[in-house]
Amino acid sequence: MLRLVLVAACALVDSDGRVLVSQRPEGKALAGLWEFPGGKVEPGERPEECLIRELDEELGITVEKPCLAPLTFASHAYDDFHLLMPLYVCRRWKGAPAGREGQAIQWLKPAKLRGLPMPPADEPLIAHLIDLIR
Ligand code: C5P
Repeated sequence: MLRLVLVAACALVDSDGRVLVSQRPEGKALAGLWEFPGGKVEPGERPEECLIRELDEELGITVEKPCLAPLTFASHAYDDFHLLMPLYVCRRWKGAPAGREGQAIQWLKPAKLRGLPMPPADEPLIAHLIDLIR
C-alpha cells in the first residue's frame, strides 16, 4: 500500500480576489510547477499550525489561526506515495508575502490559474477557488 503523506496548503486571497501561487524551486520534486503554498504536516502538528509555520518560513507572513478557513481537500496518488492535502483560504495576514526561499510568486485571479503548470494534486482545487471567488 502507498505511504500516506499529509500536506496542508493555503490559498491567500487579496482584496482584488487574486490568489497567490508559488513556484517550486530547482532541486525539489516537481520543480518549476506552481503550487498553493504550504508543506508537510509534521507529527503531532495540526494542519493550521503547519500552515502558520510554513507561511512564515516560505513567504515571511504572519497568519492567525482564526483567519484560516478550510475549503476542500485534494487527494492524489503519486507513484511512490498518496497525498492528502487540505486546502485552506486566508484573506488576512500580516506582512507582505515574498519568496523567502528564493522561489518566484505571482498573484492571479482564479480563472487565470487554469493552464498554469501545477502539480496534479493542486489542479482540481482551481474549480473550488473559482466557485468561491466571484
Ligand atoms: O513541499 P514538499 O516537497 O514538502 O511536499 C511533498 C510532496 O507533496 C511534493 O513532492 C509534491 O509531490 C506534493 N505536493 C503537491 N502540491 C503541493 C505541495 C506538495 O502535490 N501544493
